Amino acid sequence: MGNNDDHETKLPVRSAGTQITHRGTHVANTGVELPDRIKISELKCRELIAKATEMLKFSYTPYSHFKVGAALLTRSGKIYGGCNIENASFGATNCAERTAFFKAVSEGEMEFAAIAVVGGPEGKIADFCPPCGICRQVMREFCDPENFYVILARSEADYWVYTLEELLPMSFGPDDL
Ligand code: THU
Repeated sequence: MGNNDDHETKLPVRSAGTQITHRGTHVANTGVELPDRIKISELKCRELIAKATEMLKFSYTPYSHFKVGAALLTRSGKIYGGCNIENASFGATNCAERTAFFKAVSEGEMEFAAIAVVGGPEGKIADFCPPCGICRQVMREFCDPENFYVILARSEADYWVYTLEELLPMSFGPDDL
């Protein structure tokens, strides 16, 4: 638990998340139970993290060289990958999370369970890569904040799970208009 203690000390604000540091082959029912009974198993978390990591190879980052991969799980069980796509006009850059959401929504998906995110300089994952504010707000558009999970991973065996509510409290969403 050494690493995670360090992490907690450095970034106490993240300690509200559910820390999951599985090692070895244990894949039993230790997943996060969603309030409406969809369960994200450890196996599913690993699958999402693996997919997010795979997406790093498509990341287009000639400017920042900071590569991010995401894997978005729909409530029906489909997984959409995403990567960041930068632009010479920097503001036109699209983050990995939004790429995954826009791919899914553009294909008719509207119900989401979880997203895994990985990233780091030159695609080397050295630490957690939390979603930016714009991505959190895009998630908010399509997800119930208390019922959507964000998995931040350093590896398939070292990750934290947060609700969107934890990452974007007291948010403004479609119902506020
Ligand atoms: N980035 C993401 O893809 N997701 C985030 O939530 C954080 C930032 C990307 C955008 C840009 O290509 C690079 O990381 C550096 O900001």
